[in-house]
Amino acid sequence: MSYARIEIAPSILSSDFTKLGDEVRLVEDAGADVIHFDVMDGQFVPNISIGIPVLESLRKATKLPLDVHLMIDRPERYIGDFVKAGATRVLIHQEATVHLDRALVMIREHGAEAGAVINPATPVVMLSDVLDKVDTVLVMSVNPGFGGQKFIVNAYEKIRQLNQMRARYNASFRIEVDGGVDSENIEALAQAGGNTFVAGSSIFRTADPAGATRQLKKLATLALSQKA
Ligand code: DX5
Ligand code: ZN
Repeated sequence: MSYARIEIAPSILSSDFTKLGDEVRLVEDAGADVIHFDVMDGQFVPNISIGIPVLESLRKATKLPLDVHLMIDRPERYIGDFVKAGATRVLIHQEATVHLDRALVMIREHGAEAGAVINPATPVVMLSDVLDKVDTVLVMSVNPGFGGQKFIVNAYEKIRQLNQMRARYNASFRIEVDGGVDSENIEALAQAGGNTFVAGSSIFRTADPAGATRQLKKLATLALSQKA
């Protein structure tokens, strides 16, 4: 099954933007599977980050898939632009649009993989009617807006619920976790059913981002094999 393989997705939000190309190459060489790209608009979340021109540059700097997490109001306005700029996957928040179904369909029509994201206060059931239209469900384990926040534990139960729903509907979406993921919790998250792990500060705010990437991948992969 496509989701059975663990993916580590370093979040460049915590990287040094003056040498973004080098930072990304470092984690790519260490076995990162995806690069996570956080877009914030100062409306949906209380912070402003990076956008289309940086994504275009990044697309030229790596061969890895680009996981574009849109923390913006009414993301449907910009889906085409982000796909054109190089997004492999576009992840949009359930809370940010009243037309989630339409927006997810749009992502696939533009040729990218579609992801739906839920905040810590949003229950998994809010996605039950769109599960056939997503390639990824992203569970936020912090309130979006900033790197380096404390992991919120209700994510475990949500991952378990999604894992059960996936089996029940015979679906194959990936379960992704974003926020506060580190070497302390990644094994339990993999055992709960997580497949793709976003890690910002636990990779880029360490002395050895390559070593941290390898370690996270090893821990999650091992935890999964022990579960099976
Ligand atoms: C938070 C972002 C995350 C962030 C994660 O709003 O969506 O991707 O970069 O950072 P850490 O891993 O430090 O919690
Ligand atoms: Zn993110």
